[in-house]
Amino acid sequence: MPKKYVMANFKMNKTNDEVVDYIDKLSSLTSDCDCQVVLCVPSISIPLAVQKVNEKDRDFIIACQNFNENDFGAFTGEINAEMVAGGGAGAVLIGHSERRNLFKEDDLLVNKKILKALKSGLICIFCLGESLFDKKNNLTEQVIINQLSKGLNSIYANELSHIVIAYEPVWAIGTGIVATEQEISQSICIIRNTLAKLYNEEIANNVTIVYGGSVNDVNCKDISKIKGVDGVLVGGASLIPEKFSKIAKAFCECKKTKNKK
Ligand code: PGA
Repeated sequence: MPKKYVMANFKMNKTNDEVVDYIDKLSSLTSDCDCQVVLCVPSISIPLAVQKVNEKDRDFIIACQNFNENDFGAFTGEINAEMVAGGGAGAVLIGHSERRNLFKEDDLLVNKKILKALKSGLICIFCLGESLFDKKNNLTEQVIINQLSKGLNSIYANELSHIVIAYEPVWAIGTGIVATEQEISQSICIIRNTLAKLYNEEIANNVTIVYGGSVNDVNCKDISKIKGVDGVLVGGASLIPEKFSKIAKAFCECKKTKNKK
């Protein structure tokens, strides 16, 4: 049984000291947890976070929230994929709706970044999802297929094991409104069907797909039971280690097995 992915997106929150303190606390709170924890920290905290995770002897993946798609050059203030990987990060968020909306990143750029990330050995957390406008106009399926196909352009089948797809309906991010079980299942089904067409059934069934959008320590249990959901990407509720550890525990396979006995 592959591990479930429980991912925190700190966004523009937490100083170096706060990140280190967080890892300290989260490490104790999740000592009996077997899910794959991923922490998307501010870029500047990556090396310190990696150091702390190693010190604690945990397998948390430290991830970056963004990088510039260019290899190097006159791009003041930017960092590239190689720098991110060199800093010790093991993964990167690509296509998050805040990047798409606030920084006008389109599917073409998302695809360029996925290609660069894979080349640098980073796991891609590829975010996609429909807006409220899309939902109201019955465009969800079309938008998901479009974002997925364009984002994965020129990506080979054997690279899909390095991609985690995060289905995040934009209207659910930071709003306190969670997609229903039916909405999540339907969208994940659309993603798997599209992957089956683009690649094959086996790949479609094996790709890790997580849900994101107002996940918290209360609704996580129900979300963990939805078929086809391999984990979660959490923003607001990930900032407090006590809350995030509860979410991680909801996705622990060892606990579920123990409980069944
Ligand atoms: P949220 O954010 O959990 O605060 O809704 C999710 C995300 O932005 O990935």
